Amino acid sequence: MNDITNNTSWRHVTDLTGKTVVITGCASGIGRATAMQFASAGAIVYGGDRNEADGQATISAIREAGGQGDFIKLDLTSGASIDAFVDTAVGKIGGAPDIIANVAGLDRVMPFVENTPDVWELLAQVNYIGPVRMIHRFLPLMLERRSGKIVTVASDAGRVGSMGETFYAGTKGAIIAFTKSLARETARAGLTCNCVAPGPTDTPLFNGTIPEGKLRDALIKAIPLKRLAQPVEIAHTIVYLATPATDFMTGQVISVSGGLTMHG
Ligand SMILES: NC(=O)c1ccc[n+]([C@@H]2O[C@H](COP(=O)([O-])OP(=O)(O)OC[C@H]3O[C@@H](n4cnc5c(N)ncnc54)[C@H](O)[C@@H]3O)[C@@H](O)[C@H]2O)c1
Repeated sequence: MNDITNNTSWRHVTDLTGKTVVITGCASGIGRATAMQFASAGAIVYGGDRNEADGQATISAIREAGGQGDFIKLDLTSGASIDAFVDTAVGKIGGAPDIIANVAGLDRVMPFVENTPDVWELLAQVNYIGPVRMIHRFLPLMLERRSGKIVTVASDAGRVGSMGETFYAGTKGAIIAFTKSLARETARAGLTCNCVAPGPTDTPLFNGTIPEGKLRDALIKAIPLKRLAQPVEIAHTIVYLATPATDFMTGQVISVSGGLTMHG
């Protein structure tokens, strides 16, 4: 400690002490890393996931490290579950969260011609309709309070397309366009809405769809930084978009892809 770190009027711009964050997908991969990063920035974490055991484990890890948080079960394919999640979170927080981080997501890799409508419905529900419904439920309280930061994990697939992920890319493109429009609608009330678009990231989702082998090696070769992202590297940008460091940024999409995609 020195005078700068000790003095609260010098509080660092990325300090989230006492801020409340609702985060989906906290059981695994990027969501788990993000929940831990929010907690280490001082935020109180309300994590949701359909995987109860692993979601609880994330929150237990946060508490054991001295952080604060709670797990609330959530299934983004069910409107009733989303409503119950929101009601529980609002009850525990005593109002709207300061931050919503939509991280949960699902992918099915196969040629588009092999898609069946049930695949479209599932991916649309988890990657698009579910987060939209959750935001819609929290939004009136945030607008009334005139503050809030909404950060949604999209994908570079939604910006540049991706073979074998055609419908998934569509859901991610949809959430990007939704976020931009929402940013315009809510800016007057002081809210910010942004997306993070990860490139290939070392998580169970990625490892399940592109296992070790030639395809994976070729993909890594094409990444200028020559490796996959670690989940915490995506988490850093998600947390950054929820801090006062980005108060003047809204409607933006930040790619974290090791240079695989470079947007003008
Ligand atoms: N890993 C990558 O390479 C990559 C690349 C681009 C974008 N993304 C996006 O990053 C986000 C996180 O993915 P990840 O790689 O950490 O995957 P992951 O599979 O490790 O984690 C996803 C989490 O979402 C949860 N989830 C899935 N369906 C759910 C549902 N119906 N209700 C509630 N929770 C549900 C899972 O239980 C899991 O905990 C996703 O939105 C994904 O599309 C990942």
